[in-house]
Amino acid sequence: MASDSPILIRPAAPGDAQQVVEALLRNRDHMRPWGPIRPADFFTAQAQAHRIADPSVRIWHLRDGDLVVGQAVLSTIVLGPFRSASLGYWVDAGYTGRGLATRLVEEVCRAARDDLGLHRVEAATVLANVASQRVLRKCGFEMIGTAPDYLHIDGAWRDHHLFQRILHNGPPNTAP
Ligand SMILES: CC(C)(COP(=O)(O)OP(=O)(O)OC[C@H]1O[C@@H](n2cnc3c(N)ncnc32)[C@H](O)[C@@H]1OP(=O)(O)O)[C@@H](O)C(=O)NCCC(=O)NCCS
Repeated sequence: MASDSPILIRPAAPGDAQQVVEALLRNRDHMRPWGPIRPADFFTAQAQAHRIADPSVRIWHLRDGDLVVGQAVLSTIVLGPFRSASLGYWVDAGYTGRGLATRLVEEVCRAARDDLGLHRVEAATVLANVASQRVLRKCGFEMIGTAPDYLHIDGAWRDHHLFQRILHNGPPNTAP
């Protein structure tokens, strides 16, 4: 159960897999309108452990004691002259409205710039996801367009607002 300790952000660890499953199950209704339909085996510790171990993605968790109460995922990490990645995130329904997504996105952007040397992070939201758009704007993202039928979300191809944040304008092979 929730503890009195502060809510922490830390990189995902292999031992988090079962706690992620529990969070995903607790938050199925909360996330359904904004995410893809997942196969049943997505909600297993094995699948989540595999995802955490995938070297092509980076995952961070918000933790309240033993609970995982939020997650951010950097995927499609491209180097070369692009040095860009795609960001997705969620916060447990019982923890929203406290600035936690904003903290999480800020920390991921810091790591993307300082640790991964990326130039840019992008994110996309369905048009109705005003809370997520607000998080992105608070974190310095700007809307760069609207893409029709962009992602398959909650059972249909949905238009999305596209956002990006430029992290630094140094040379492409170094962090600032
Ligand atoms: C979107 C989500 C990540 C926000 O998490 P959170 O921890 O509540 O976010 P924060 O508290 O950092 O900021 C939320 C902001 O949105 C605002 N907001 C929330 N609901 C809103 C609404 N319906 N209309 C307008 N603004 C809204 C809040 O007031 C706050 O802005 P403020 O600080 O200026 O007051 C969370 O609701 C969530 O996980 N939703 C389901 C999954 C999801 O949508 N993921 C993103 C997919 S792109």
